[in-house]
Amino acid sequence: MSTLAHISDLHFGAENPVLVEALVADLRALGPSLVVVSGDLTQRARRREFAKARAFLDRLPFPRLVVPGNHDIPLFDLVSRFVSPLARFRRYVAEDVDPFFASETLAVLGLNTARSNRWKEGRISPEQIDLVRRRFGPLPPHVVKVLVTHHPFLPPPGAEPPPLVGRAAEALYAAEACGVDLVLSGHLHLGYTGDVRAHHAHVGRALLVAQAGTATSHRLRDEVNSYNVLELSPQRLAFTRRAWNESAFHEARRVDYVKSGSEWTPAIP
Ligand SMILES: [Fe+2]
Ligand SMILES: [Fe+2]
Repeated sequence: MSTLAHISDLHFGAENPVLVEALVADLRALGPSLVVVSGDLTQRARRREFAKARAFLDRLPFPRLVVPGNHDIPLFDLVSRFVSPLARFRRYVAEDVDPFFASETLAVLGLNTARSNRWKEGRISPEQIDLVRRRFGPLPPHVVKVLVTHHPFLPPPGAEPPPLVGRAAEALYAAEACGVDLVLSGHLHLGYTGDVRAHHAHVGRALLVAQAGTATSHRLRDEVNSYNVLELSPQRLAFTRRAWNESAFHEARRVDYVKSGSEWTPAIP
């Protein structure tokens, strides 16, 4: 079984230092196989914010996979925004903005969805959709396949849909065809799980989603800080949302899914 810690929207520059310390302690106690960061590490893509984000990441002695978010591209500095939008992300965090992690049982592909000209909404390119096929297509069925983006594919339950990542439908076609099990995203600062078919009727089988809230920032949207833990095995996937309760992160919600054939369904407790 692989244990994946999914953190998002850290927003260094608008962070709460108490939460940063608590998150480091919680993650060290968890000891995950992989830490996934689904973007918005900074508030305004400033050097000092990236330096803080890097110092935070360096305190986590685990493999990690990080994609940028829209806040990791400068907004007001138009030269940087359009000429070298991810230069600071590459310098401080990771050179590869479409990273890939693979073990015997787990494959995780991150896609950079942050765009200079669609600063808030984000987009997936045709080349990145090809990359989904190339990375996941050759892998056997027992490998759990996870896609990571900053911008979301699935709106929160019951809410007016926010803008979703551009080319979501085409990306989901490719993901479905090459056996992707789970999509991890952030951006909305809301933590929830579900099946993409709740919004994308064209998808032919279950493709699970886990959205992470903001782990450490005070940019809250009617929901406390949180992050997610995913326990992954070929036939079972447990989603846990760990939420802040004024003194520590604690288990706030758990959903177990089981796989039958290529279909994931919530487990009956
Ligand atoms: Fe954010
Ligand atoms: Fe964002």
